[in-house]
Amino acid sequence: MKYIVGNWKMNQSLREITHFVEQFSGTSQFKCETWIAPQSIHIAPLIAKTSRIKVGSQNSSLYQNGAYTGEISPTAIKELGATFTIIGHSERRAQFKENNMLLGKKVAAAFEAGLDVIYCIGESLEERNDDKTFVVLEEQIREALKGIILSDKNKFIVAYEPVWAIGTGQTATPEQAQEAHHFVRVQLKDSFPTNGEKIPLLYGGSVKPSNIEELLAQEDIDGALVGGASLAAADYIQLCQCASNLI
Ligand code: PGA
Repeated sequence: MKYIVGNWKMNQSLREITHFVEQFSGTSQFKCETWIAPQSIHIAPLIAKTSRIKVGSQNSSLYQNGAYTGEISPTAIKELGATFTIIGHSERRAQFKENNMLLGKKVAAAFEAGLDVIYCIGESLEERNDDKTFVVLEEQIREALKGIILSDKNKFIVAYEPVWAIGTGQTATPEQAQEAHHFVRVQLKDSFPTNGEKIPLLYGGSVKPSNIEELLAQEDIDGALVGGASLAAADYIQLCQCASNLI
């Protein structure tokens, strides 16, 4: 099963969401997982508009409740009917100074609340040019996931998103993506000997209808985490059609 996960970031008005769902609802059922993370404030409206999309959050707190003004409780996300949360997106790491240790706590809190988790990792351009890609990926996995226990109750997914490819139009080549994904697969197997090898791995970074096929054709790429190209229903639908054809 392939995954097409849209990350709408801080975009889409309620009117645009209505228009998106109208177009999406006109298609026949896809044979891939169709997930979207709108702004948290739009989780409930999106859930109310369609049951064909699994809805999630772009971020969630390490706390379930308490005096944490402005935070988003994983329990509250779950209560709305959302099924997943994205943790560790590079924009959260860079702009909100979220580090591996903190992100590990967020993963644990999300599991505790019963959410599936998409944990994002990826190197910056500078790190890639300094030949540090694998060191960074290994750290992002080891430091955050130490002590995390995977269960059948909640899905755990890892998204490899090279920072230099996010929102830049510069996609990793299928070979670069596959090389990183294979490395991540081996690391996860090492961290979780019983079930690490089966963790779905998504590629993210300027995925669009014109490059999705060659990316999803790679052995260790199980889906895509898509920003810009998930905003227009026509593009998102095309991505889902490509993923459905590959099953
Ligand atoms: P992009 O964003 O597809 O616009 O590059 C991907 C992401 O940030 O998850």
